[in-house]
Amino acid sequence: MYSSETVIGLGTPSVKNKPIEQLVWPEEGLHAIPDWVYTSDDVYAREVERIFQGPTWNFVALEAEIPNSGDYKRSYVGPTPVVVSRAEDGSIHVFENRCAHRGAEFCRHTRGNNTEFVCPYHQWSYDLKGNLQGIPFKRGVNKLGGMPRDFRNEDHGLKKLAVTTRNGVIFASFTHDMEPIEDYLTPEILKDFDAVFNGKKLRILGFYKNELPCNWKMYHENLKDPYHATLLHSFLVVFGLLVAGNRSAMVADSKRGIHGTMASAKSDSLYAAVDADKKKEMRSFHEGMVLKDERFLEYVKEFDSEWSVTMQTIWPNLIVQREMNTLGIRHIVPNGPNSMIMLWTMFGYEDDTEETTRHRLRQGNLMGPSGFLGLEDNEAMKFVQEGVRRSVTDRSVLKLDSENIGTADSLISEAAIRAMYKHYREVMGF
Ligand code: FES
Ligand code: FE2
Repeated sequence: MYSSETVIGLGTPSVKNKPIEQLVWPEEGLHAIPDWVYTSDDVYAREVERIFQGPTWNFVALEAEIPNSGDYKRSYVGPTPVVVSRAEDGSIHVFENRCAHRGAEFCRHTRGNNTEFVCPYHQWSYDLKGNLQGIPFKRGVNKLGGMPRDFRNEDHGLKKLAVTTRNGVIFASFTHDMEPIEDYLTPEILKDFDAVFNGKKLRILGFYKNELPCNWKMYHENLKDPYHATLLHSFLVVFGLLVAGNRSAMVADSKRGIHGTMASAKSDSLYAAVDADKKKEMRSFHEGMVLKDERFLEYVKEFDSEWSVTMQTIWPNLIVQREMNTLGIRHIVPNGPNSMIMLWTMFGYEDDTEETTRHRLRQGNLMGPSGFLGLEDNEAMKFVQEGVRRSVTDRSVLKLDSENIGTADSLISEAAIRAMYKHYREVMGF
């Protein structure tokens, strides 16, 4: 939809990448965001340490991806590579994908099944729980070389993370005394989380993976920004999925304000009834657009929820997507300040009929890296990153619904983004 010209000057100017001690939050407080949160290498390093490796529960996998003992998946906590493994006794383990010997990222396959993990470099082997079990030539050869007598395998296992699950969703943390996942997510977020993850077994339908040339926080902000949804996305607006004036909600958790649910109830008719005065504000509303295949927007009511669409942002690395009957998660993997990787997993339920699965897959075209509703966000965030990274101006404005921080009653609000930055500033010391 947009032509992209050759990018000139990809390097970040030094003014946008100052040392952390020179960074001061703007005097506007939560009514402004300084560009350096998106561009500074130092800020990024502190985020990895204090957020992703700090006291947070990070999404790592769905249980349905590793149903049997010996199943494993290569995953990430922030940018840190980990392995999610199911042991012989059915328990789930998450450990760093870094050999305890010389540091090789030993697990090379996205997913698989095995009875042990063997590092390709010097073949140290680990059991399914991440314990070191074997070292070739541990005692040397002909009484020469080898490990010292007092070397104990128990002291040289893989670095293990704390693990928890909620209805088939696996989270891990570098912090071992984390609060229970239910307390972390809070009741207001669990309500819609549990509507999707309701205890029924999931069936994995497929994966996407893409890189976005933007800071990882922008993706959270995008899904805490209902304002853009009614303006940027022609598809949403024309087909009545989210229109200013529809019944909708932008909820932020009241404990920390970092998780969110953007929810809306679709109009009953297939096409949106938009009044003339609203149309004037919505340049992406195109009169007379029709669908060739109307099954595409059929909503089969199957969830214990008043909403037809819920998009949940779960701090710091998970998006739960329920767009009518298409279900998926997006796993955010930060990749330096100016890039992030998005890992998508689309799913249904094990007891779905063939017809329901077809419907979910058909509707799945709304989402994904080039989905009818995903495409524009990717472009918009790229534009923002290019703008904040290469300009002289140093902050953006966050004033919609200005008195409010957290849950908003209106779609024309940035209150949920402010709640996220309130917490962020505390954790980051800004
Ligand atoms: Fe893995 Fe040496 S680095 S066995
Ligand atoms: Fe969007």
